Amino acid sequence: MPSVVVIDYGSQYTRLITRRLRELHVYSVIEPPNVSMQRLHEHDARAVVLSGGPQSVYADGAPPLPDGLLDSGLPILAICYGMQLVARALGGEVAPSTVREYGKAVLRHTDGDLLGGIEGEFVAWMSHGDSVARVPAGFAVTAETSDTPVAAMEDAERRIYGLQFHPEVRHTPKGLAVLERFLDAARVERGWTSEHIIDEAVSDVRDGVGDERVLLGISGGVDSSTLGLLLHRAIGTQLVAVFVDTGLLRLGEADEVERALRGLGLDLVVVDASERFLEALVGIVDPELKRKAIGKTFIDVFGDEARRVQDARGDIRFLAQGTLYPDVIESAGSHGSAVIKSHHNVGGLPDDLAFTLIEPFRNLFKDEVREVADALGMPSHLRDRHPFPGPGLAIRCLGEVTPERLRVLQQVDDVFVSALREFGLYGETWQALAVLTPLRSVGVMGDGRTYANTVALRAVTSVDGMTADWARLPHEFLATVSNRIVNSVPEVNRVVYDITSKPPGTIEWE
Ligand code: XMP
Repeated sequence: MPSVVVIDYGSQYTRLITRRLRELHVYSVIEPPNVSMQRLHEHDARAVVLSGGPQSVYADGAPPLPDGLLDSGLPILAICYGMQLVARALGGEVAPSTVREYGKAVLRHTDGDLLGGIEGEFVAWMSHGDSVARVPAGFAVTAETSDTPVAAMEDAERRIYGLQFHPEVRHTPKGLAVLERFLDAARVERGWTSEHIIDEAVSDVRDGVGDERVLLGISGGVDSSTLGLLLHRAIGTQLVAVFVDTGLLRLGEADEVERALRGLGLDLVVVDASERFLEALVGIVDPELKRKAIGKTFIDVFGDEARRVQDARGDIRFLAQGTLYPDVIESAGSHGSAVIKSHHNVGGLPDDLAFTLIEPFRNLFKDEVREVADALGMPSHLRDRHPFPGPGLAIRCLGEVTPERLRVLQQVDDVFVSALREFGLYGETWQALAVLTPLRSVGVMGDGRTYANTVALRAVTSVDGMTADWARLPHEFLATVSNRIVNSVPEVNRVVYDITSKPPGTIEWE
């Protein structure tokens, strides 16, 4: 697949550049500054983007341009730090600065292949210290702002473009159009679509596993369910999909997922392990211990089932996992696009259960998994669900997790989330959840005094969950939800709304 390689100079936006290019249907991967030309060749790179970065090009140990890049003839889009590297390497001048320009700026006199002819005001997001003072020979200045004389430069002949702003962020509203123009100038084909992703993954899986069988654990979430659908498409009945129902999902969710997947032809082995999970959680209040107990129980239940299936149907060689590209980038040194990895004893499984791991989603971002889910027929209300933590409602049930408390939380959560959907607010929030606190307080209901639970509602806006802001849900909506909760869940007499951003708060209460 032809690609655009993004060189990571440490900008917080590097990943976003990759995602935006993929939104434009171009396959894009991230590599470090010391990437070799050979590696770019293996990626079938048709262009390179240099990300921004926190350093000054004058700093000791400032990461350099990849060896040979400027002589390779590959079109280059150089953003912020990347632009300064290019300017310096080609004989221009970079002015050091002691202050950082940060925030929105308006571009003036836009010109050139990338910026010329873009209509209307051009607002750009700036975040830089140094800036280019003199462009290298062959380059033209194609934009300026009131503070930055060289806000963009280009050498159209060599197809090298520099931007002192971030086209990848939403604060640069016309940024996507700029990226699109770069792809046009670089003549990069757009072939990265969900159909393509599916076709490629299907053929890789088929090649990799031949006529062997593949085991998959499904947790009920979007990623593992989608992987189930993909593997079903690739290898049909060679897939052994085990759905472990932890009892810690939302109200009715396990049934819904099971029905949907069966409806799409998947032959699921369903294990109702809710009692085992509840037993493992008895007496545990500490959130880390809860997580450990749940993780261990999952492995135990899945392991038991894997053994049972193998006893009944013979050995299984492969285990599929829904590892995503962000996990791959995070585990340093594991660059590469191979679908099949030969790891053994994955995910803490005991020695007698050694599998070869397959990770068909290791090149994908979460939003791409959702597109794949869509293309494979997953109903939209399942596909578009908010992120949900692996340990499920157990970590939102502060204090001890008992069947009774879990039931109360499921009901409250259901009222909240159903109302968000009903009022058209579900898609406006990145994640919404209910928390059963360990607090009880006095209330009054009819003629009687109550002494019951406090629940907290939390809804946030976010891009990737790393930072988040509390969602400004309309007061009327919150009033309705609060009424509905107290009226329909007798164990609850008080509802509070969490108005903490992340940081300093986390999204989950635990
Ligand atoms: P926090 O609470 O750290 O959460 O702000 C950030 C995002 O991560 C989700 N989360 C998890 N997801 N397994 C997961 O798959 C987990 O153990 C886990 N813990 C937190 C959380 O729901 C939020 O979206």
